[in-house]
Amino acid sequence: MRDDRHWRQAWLELIDEITRYVKYLQEMGIEEYDATMPMGADRLPLPPLASAAHLAESGASKEVETSALSESSSGEHITVKGESPMAQKKKRVTGQAQASLFGDLAPAESPGESPLPVDETLDDIRADIGECTRCKLHEHRTHIVFGEGNPHADLMFVGEGPGADEDATGRPFVGRAGQLLDRMIEAIGMKREQVYIANIVKCRPPGNREPEPDEVATCEPFLYRQINVIRPKLVVALGGVATKTLLRTKAPISKLRGRFFDFRGTKLLPTFHPAFLLRSPNKKRDAWEDLKKVRDFLQGKIVE
Ligand code: URA
Repeated sequence: MRDDRHWRQAWLELIDEITRYVKYLQEMGIEEYDATMPMGADRLPLPPLASAAHLAESGASKEVETSALSESSSGEHITVKGESPMAQKKKRVTGQAQASLFGDLAPAESPGESPLPVDETLDDIRADIGECTRCKLHEHRTHIVFGEGNPHADLMFVGEGPGADEDATGRPFVGRAGQLLDRMIEAIGMKREQVYIANIVKCRPPGNREPEPDEVATCEPFLYRQINVIRPKLVVALGGVATKTLLRTKAPISKLRGRFFDFRGTKLLPTFHPAFLLRSPNKKRDAWEDLKKVRDFLQGKIVE
C-alpha cells in the first residue's frame, strides 16, 4: 500500500515535470522534435536538472552546433570536443574573417579590467553604493537594484536597467521579462538561484528609456567590481545596451548574438533581451540556439 502511494507520487511528479518542460519548449519556440533522436542529443534538450547528470553518465561527446560566428573577440577559436582537426581549422579561418568584419569590437579594454583575485565582497560593493546620488537616475528611483543570485555563480546575466517592477521591489528581472528569463534559465537545466543577475545601471531610467552615457559611466564600475568578485565562467549580455556597453562596440546585437567573446578574463555571449523576445516571439528560436551554446559551454562541451 505504501509502495503504491510512493509510485503514484513519483508518477505525478514526473508528469508535472514533463508538463513544465513542454511549456519551456513552447515558450522558446520549439514546436517539434525528432523523436528518433536519443535523449541528450543536441536538438532535444534534456529536462531541467537531469541534463548534466545524464550527459555525464552517457559520456556523450557530440559536435556542438557552433555557427560560423562562434569565436572570441580576439579572433581566437573556441574548440569543440570531438571535432575533426579539419572542421576546427575551417571554423578558425571563418572566425577570423568574421572578427575583422566587426573590427570595432572591444579589444581587451574593459574599464576596471582586473581578472586578479579581489579582496572585497558583494556586501562591500553594496555598502559602497550606499543611497547613491552619483547620477540623475537617483531622482526618480524607489529602490536601487543591486543584483542578486549565487555569489559563486558560473553563469551571470547582465541586463540593461531596472524596469517598474524591479524599481518597486529592488530585485532584478522580476517583471514579465524576468519571468521569461526564469524560463530561459530553466530551459538549460538551471535554476534562478544558481546564477547571478545584474544590470548595467542599478536605478530605473524614467519611462524605461535607455540609460544615457553619463549614467552608464557612473554605474558600470560597480558592475565590473561585482563581476570581479563573482568571477563567472560566462557572462550572458541580454540585449543591445548590455552588449554594446560591455563589449565597447556599436555593432548590432543581431550580428553579435550567439558568439563567444573574451571579456575580463572570462567569456561573454550576447543574446536577445527577454523583453525583446516578448515583443518578437519569432526570435525565440534564435535565443534558444544561443542558450544551447551557454548550456554546452558550462557543461564543458565547448572549450577554449
Ligand atoms: N529589464 C532589464 O534590463 N533589467 C531588469 O532588471 C528588468 C528588465
